[in-house]
Amino acid sequence: MEIVPAPTRDAAVALTAKLIESRLRDKPNLVLGLATGRTMEEVYARLVASGVSFARCTTFNLDEYVGLPPEDPNSYAAYMRHHLFDHVDIDPARINLPDGMADDLSVAAADYERRIAGAGGIDLQLLGIGEAGHIGFNEPLSALRSRTRDKILTPVTRAQNAGMFGGDPDAVPKRALTMGVETILESRELVLLASGRAKASVVAKAVEGPLTARISASAIQLHTHCKVILDDEAASDLEGLAYYREVCRNEEKWDPYRSLL
Ligand code: GLP
Repeated sequence: MEIVPAPTRDAAVALTAKLIESRLRDKPNLVLGLATGRTMEEVYARLVASGVSFARCTTFNLDEYVGLPPEDPNSYAAYMRHHLFDHVDIDPARINLPDGMADDLSVAAADYERRIAGAGGIDLQLLGIGEAGHIGFNEPLSALRSRTRDKILTPVTRAQNAGMFGGDPDAVPKRALTMGVETILESRELVLLASGRAKASVVAKAVEGPLTARISASAIQLHTHCKVILDDEAASDLEGLAYYREVCRNEEKWDPYRSLL
């Protein structure tokens, strides 16, 4: 795992967008795993502004609310159209989100796994982190070997996501269909982005704390090609911060991105 501390939120976001852009330029038929949430909005805005082509890219979103049709403005399908898909040259046939409207969610979950495998697996999975320590919607005690399935959301998550639902946690759907922790870990590369003071404690638990199903994001410690990009606030509880900065300063691969570090 590489911790990449950026000085500001803008720099952390720009660095994340540039990494995705560079993977897309190197491999135009990239299989890209996407995340939602406020943190990602600016990443997508920068990707759109970069002009990079998505024409041959296939995408898989981490999760979708159960019971919200894609037309619902609060669905993650709508979020993705609004922030990314409507503004790039992506082929709609290559866009994949879990089907939260399926009659049988376990069938939809198995189908999602098959689609990921059929695309050859995910090359790069973008991740945020919830205040409950989740990646995707893998709420506390999600098995570290879980696959795509439906999960009941915690009150912490529903409160965190209430902003999109008029500020009312009760308006946030109670369930979501999400890639499992193991599904995520099978991606060939992970990039987790977190910003803001509210994430500092959970970030420290995820990257420096013990591996535990209570914080599903801690599972990224098992991944051999994983970057955690943080702004100054999200990094502020890390005990090893000085060392992580030192590593970044000495790694040549970060040279093209020096102005953002
Ligand atoms: C939702 C998503 C998560 C994401 C989280 C972070 O819960 N399901 O994948 O990590 O939001 O949200 P934000 O970026 O708004 O803090």
